[in-house]
Amino acid sequence: MSSQSQLSVLHKFKGILFSNMSSEELLNSLDSFDAREDDVFLVSYPKSGTHWIAEIIESIPNARITLTSSIELGDISKLEELKMYSQRRVIPTHLCYDLLPANIKQKQCKIIYIIRNPKDTAVSLFHYYRDNPNLPYIETWSAFFELFLRGEVVYGSWFDHVLSWEEHRNDKNILIIFYEEMKKDFPKSLKKITTFLEINVNDSEINKIARKTSFSEMKNNSVKENFDPNHTVCALTSDRNLVFRKGVVGDWINYFTSKQKRVFDELFTEKMKHSQLARFLEE
Ligand code: A3P
Repeated sequence: MSSQSQLSVLHKFKGILFSNMSSEELLNSLDSFDAREDDVFLVSYPKSGTHWIAEIIESIPNARITLTSSIELGDISKLEELKMYSQRRVIPTHLCYDLLPANIKQKQCKIIYIIRNPKDTAVSLFHYYRDNPNLPYIETWSAFFELFLRGEVVYGSWFDHVLSWEEHRNDKNILIIFYEEMKKDFPKSLKKITTFLEINVNDSEINKIARKTSFSEMKNNSVKENFDPNHTVCALTSDRNLVFRKGVVGDWINYFTSKQKRVFDELFTEKMKHSQLARFLEE
């Protein structure tokens, strides 16, 4: 499927594909978004673990935050809706750095950017494309693989997205967190998040948060809960059941042929040659 034929469910804004869940009027009006200094932005390329981090932040005792839906989800009324929250807002988005509303940068709001190995991200996004009616149905993994390589998917090229944020990795208001590190050493990642947000947590609280935000717990709760669409943290669906698939590191191996791995690795080496983060992302 070419990017042209994807346009029945997607549309382009400033050269990047968005789903029809993000109206053009809203995207156009984002620069008038009025950020507050204590806002926290939860940023990611789709399928990098956004819901996981969101649940972690919501589970921190005494965080006194309100998790909103994605800033780019909805229509023109979105910016008014965001004004109604009186508590500290945690606002998710999949926007690349350049599309982030200017006001957020000026006010140096805290930003957590989560990154996941691109091969696992691609496989996860492939399934999302198949399961999510708001995204085009792509018949085969090999067809999706080609689109992903060319960046002809929602939110554009994984490489451009990550590199746009990496440029700002040393900004003091930006924290970069890796999905794989969260899986390997949850308490360490959690400490990074709470230190960044200036909230104290003790060891027993860390254990409680780890249990509450484990993949199995979140997957089970998503089935049980009467889902509140205002709590979607991804601008691509309001159905939480679509989010929890496998939740593992390295599932790509079940999809990539050896040729696809070679092609992908070559592109990765080329695109990420100046990246300081690349070494955390290779398998
Ligand atoms: P998979 O499709 O590989 O299973 P996002 O929240 O950005 O949409 O990312 C979704 C991906 O994160 C899915 O990956 C999902 O299963 C995984 N995920 C969600 N919650 C998780 C958790 N608590 N632990 C580990 N992975 C989780």
